[in-house]
Amino acid sequence: MPKKRILVATGGGDCPGLNAVIRAIVRRTSQEPDWEVVGSIEAFNGILKDPPEVVRLTKRDVSGIHIRGGTILKTTNKGGPFAWPVEQPDGTWATEDRTEEMLNRLKDPLGVEAVISIGGEGSMDIAQKLHERGLNVIGVPKTIDNDLSSTDVTFGFQTAVEIATDSVDKLVTTAASHNRLLILEVMGRYAGWIGLSAAVAGGAHVALIPEIPYDIEKVAEAVNERMQGNRGYCIVVVSEGAKALGGERVSQKSDQVGYQNEMLGGVGHRLLAQLKQHMDIDARVMILGHLQRGGTPTAYDRILATQFGVKAVELALEGKFGTMVSYRKPHIVDVPIKEAINKYNYVSLDSDLVQAARGVGICLGD
Ligand code: F6P
Repeated sequence: MPKKRILVATGGGDCPGLNAVIRAIVRRTSQEPDWEVVGSIEAFNGILKDPPEVVRLTKRDVSGIHIRGGTILKTTNKGGPFAWPVEQPDGTWATEDRTEEMLNRLKDPLGVEAVISIGGEGSMDIAQKLHERGLNVIGVPKTIDNDLSSTDVTFGFQTAVEIATDSVDKLVTTAASHNRLLILEVMGRYAGWIGLSAAVAGGAHVALIPEIPYDIEKVAEAVNERMQGNRGYCIVVVSEGAKALGGERVSQKSDQVGYQNEMLGGVGHRLLAQLKQHMDIDARVMILGHLQRGGTPTAYDRILATQFGVKAVELALEGKFGTMVSYRKPHIVDVPIKEAINKYNYVSLDSDLVQAARGVGICLGD
């Protein structure tokens, strides 16, 4: 009698903790004699490749991977079954809907009973659409940005905050030595969680987040005060999605086929140019970028990821499809994927974190 199969896939940007989820899924499933796990390489693309790139995952395959960043299954944030990029004879690209074919292949020849899709907002949106087309799917949320509202926190976020905080700590000593302004640009998309958390943890003087469009005069005032006539120093943390009052986000369009996201980045340099119109200042900009997503996940993120992986398997065994695992302190619960993708998780202006930042004198640009 062939075993029943769970297929696992990682989609969207990578995030520390993905491997810990995969390991937990494989180890929990291995306790069920009738079940086994396979992994699709590069999100759902592996299912649609010829021949399919779908690999069997045993306890041996996942041994020790929980301490490694990235994903052993690889990932992508381009295309997907609903919009599969196909090169045209004239060299241009068009997209094709290959969902039906993918759903058929999952049944035969792959013999998959349940799919666990680990991903961010985009992947959960795809998972919901596939569920509506009849797929037995469970979602596992991941993102360093912490911008999903249906879970208290996502794994990967704490690791990113640690890395950003470590950077603030390091920038302090060089900034103080040179009486400089140092601007640290961090990730987070449209939410300021990483930036504000690192600013509070590292003791930055200014934190600019997307939720509070900044008044450049207020920022210049705060920087000036800290510089004490060029005998002091100042650390500004700016989230990539931040913008000036009445201004636009700094972003560009990707030149990669199938990549839909707005590519944020560069606000640190824009901020410095704006500040220079108000003061003559010795300053440098540091863009932390993908360093925030690399390396070893923190213990907290490994634990959360492991809990998510185990819960996802349990939901699959119970047949609770169309749900996403979620952390609602102190429990790991399930929520309908449909609800999970409904609302973006912005930093709330009356949150305790914002209050604490203001309470220790961090200028938020307003
Ligand atoms: O969503 C995670 C994230 O790292 C964002 O913080 C950032 O804007 C984006 O992904 C970068 O995406 P990419 O890896 O495609 O450049």
